[in-house]
Amino acid sequence: MTNIAIVYFSGTGHTHLMAEAIATGAKQVADTNVELIPITGEQIVNGRWKDDEIFAKLQAADAIVFGSPTYMGGVAAQFKAFVDAASSIWFAQGWKDKIAGGFTHSSSLSGDKQGTLLYLSINAAQHSMIWVGAGQMPGQDGMNRLGSFMGVMGQSDMDMSGAPATIEPGDRVTSESYGHRIATATQRWQK
Ligand SMILES: Cc1cc2nc3c(=O)[nH]c(=O)nc-3n(C[C@H](O)[C@H](O)[C@H](O)COP(=O)(O)O)c2cc1C
Repeated sequence: MTNIAIVYFSGTGHTHLMAEAIATGAKQVADTNVELIPITGEQIVNGRWKDDEIFAKLQAADAIVFGSPTYMGGVAAQFKAFVDAASSIWFAQGWKDKIAGGFTHSSSLSGDKQGTLLYLSINAAQHSMIWVGAGQMPGQDGMNRLGSFMGVMGQSDMDMSGAPATIEPGDRVTSESYGHRIATATQRWQK
């Protein structure tokens, strides 16, 4: 059995919907368990993120997929607090050779989302993880419509109406395909 953890922050729900779509795609691969692990601001006390239960879940995972909205061209502060806390794991290289991947969502077509994916991949490299890129050509039904290869990007126009978050159908299929790719790569790596 392959265990995949999707650890992400989402302020208004779009990144959460991408995480769900990645999970849907991963579950299509036989013998795959997937767990969504939300990072929240409440896990930060006196400026430091701490949640031993989440770290235990990540330790048990064969693959960790990291997700954050793009805030000011990079990861959200809440997610960065989690990443910084995981430096305690980095010291012992506790995530070494786990499969890694990343995704982000933002409101502008570019919005400098590449900065977020670059950061997520650098963090994975520091942990000596095995980074899996999107692996999808732009194509039908909006597949990889934003042309991102480092990881998966999603984009929705800013909506101040207070309506529940939605994501573009193309970003959903791209995320599902990525989940399938992550699960497949994890099983190949395990062999
Ligand atoms: C503090 C802040 C900074 C943001 N910076 C960017 C940005 O650099 N580029 C962009 O396209 N959108 C930016 N946005 C918009 C968010 O990326 C967008 O609302 C995203 O969908 C939020 O994802 P979520 O619904 O998962 O929280 C920013 C939003 C906030 C609140």
